[in-house]
Amino acid sequence: MFLRLVDISKVPKMVLNHNIYIGNALECAHFLKNESIDCLVTSPPYWGPRDYNTPPQEWGGDPTCNHEFEPDTSGERCKICGCWKGELGREPTPNEYISHLCWIFEALTPKLKKTATMWINIGDMYSGGVNNNDSIKEKRGSVEGVERIKGDAPPKSLLLIPTRFAWRMVEKGWILRNVIPWVKPSCIPSSVDDRYTVNWEYIFFFVRNDVTTFWEHTKTKEMIYEKPPKIDEDPEGEGTNWEEVEKIVMDETGEMISIKRKVSLWKGRDYYFNMPYEPIAENTKKRYLSVGNLDKRKDGISTDNGLGMSSKNNIECVANMKKRIESGEQLMRHARAVWEFSPVTEGAGSHFAAFPPELPKRAITAGCPLDGTVLDPFGGTGTTMKEARNQERNCVIFELNEESVKKELVDKLRLKEQLPTGLINYKITNTLSHTVTEIQG
Ligand SMILES: C[S@@+](CC[C@H](N)C(=O)[O-])C[C@H]1O[C@@H](n2cnc3c(N)ncnc32)[C@H](O)[C@@H]1O
Repeated sequence: MFLRLVDISKVPKMVLNHNIYIGNALECAHFLKNESIDCLVTSPPYWGPRDYNTPPQEWGGDPTCNHEFEPDTSGERCKICGCWKGELGREPTPNEYISHLCWIFEALTPKLKKTATMWINIGDMYSGGVNNNDSIKEKRGSVEGVERIKGDAPPKSLLLIPTRFAWRMVEKGWILRNVIPWVKPSCIPSSVDDRYTVNWEYIFFFVRNDVTTFWEHTKTKEMIYEKPPKIDEDPEGEGTNWEEVEKIVMDETGEMISIKRKVSLWKGRDYYFNMPYEPIAENTKKRYLSVGNLDKRKDGISTDNGLGMSSKNNIECVANMKKRIESGEQLMRHARAVWEFSPVTEGAGSHFAAFPPELPKRAITAGCPLDGTVLDPFGGTGTTMKEARNQERNCVIFELNEESVKKELVDKLRLKEQLPTGLINYKITNTLSHTVTEIQG
């Protein structure tokens, strides 16, 4: 269970701006203003398995070249400049796919605010795996109806594409804060009987910034960009800039005593993160309560209940937790990095790779401020946009597949407005034919 500190029902309603760009994410990126995005949530096409029937795109090479394309394994290659023409995810090698992905994220980087968060769900693949996607078979005229996907590893080995991608992003300066394993309690059964069935996927949580850029009020969640005054320079600031709290500490003789301490109500932040909380485990509570008398433990006495007591700080922390549990307080802990929820999608029509709504919902509520803007450069059926709307954030999505996805996407977004009419502005820009359509929500 996740609890949010900010209750959006109490936040004044505003007009949300939702823009949809139909086109290649690499080109759509140029339509965005610099430093305009607070949170990027996406899932690109994975390498190998799927054909989204998107028009082939040209990747790399020399844009001034009069290309002479020759077919290669899954697209075409210009024999003069090396430009590859094909669908993202269908590149001949995993490394070429990762390069193309990184070009897209490189083009998007200046569009993100320094304080932005980025959440990327990406899948892995086995070398020599079988691709039995019907549309690919048909397109490629595969006789047996089965196509082997070649990787750059021995057959049957995992290619570790997500890990390679994440590392390339880190090399480019992105800060990888969490690898979030998304565990699926109900995954598709597998007939493969010489390894475990994979029931999880990678979600990478990246940020750009590692210096304090703003200060967040620990209670009201207000964000300010000027350093708040220090406690000793701000005697009047109680309730606004600092508060007095009671703490149990260990004195010089090893006795546990209660003291009053001033603590700042502002916390320096490098990027926006609305920490989700969950109740602490019953077992943990029992372990705290089972710790006996804490006095005289300053030399560090380990306990047999798994609570390390190696430092003065640690002993003080246990004493404070114990006191709060004894007083009947419902203690919360920081949410854990493993996400577990069903992969079941909502209103995805014929699209086979839509997000379950819970995925963008968690990323948006943790990683985007209330008046912020979310971007999904591989928007698909618009699950991210719908969740952005549900959470009252602005949103931009890009999607290349105009024909098969746009209708579902627009239907899904216009479907059963939960917000009063007129609160959402939709704009669809077709970057392929450069037309603009306005739709009022
Ligand atoms: C994994 S799906 C995303 C699904 C989406 N999260 C949802 O909930 O519906 C990837 C999407 O990227 C789109 N796509 C593929 N290549 C693209 C490109 N170069 N630019 C933009 N979108 C692209 C595909 O058509 C597909 O809909």
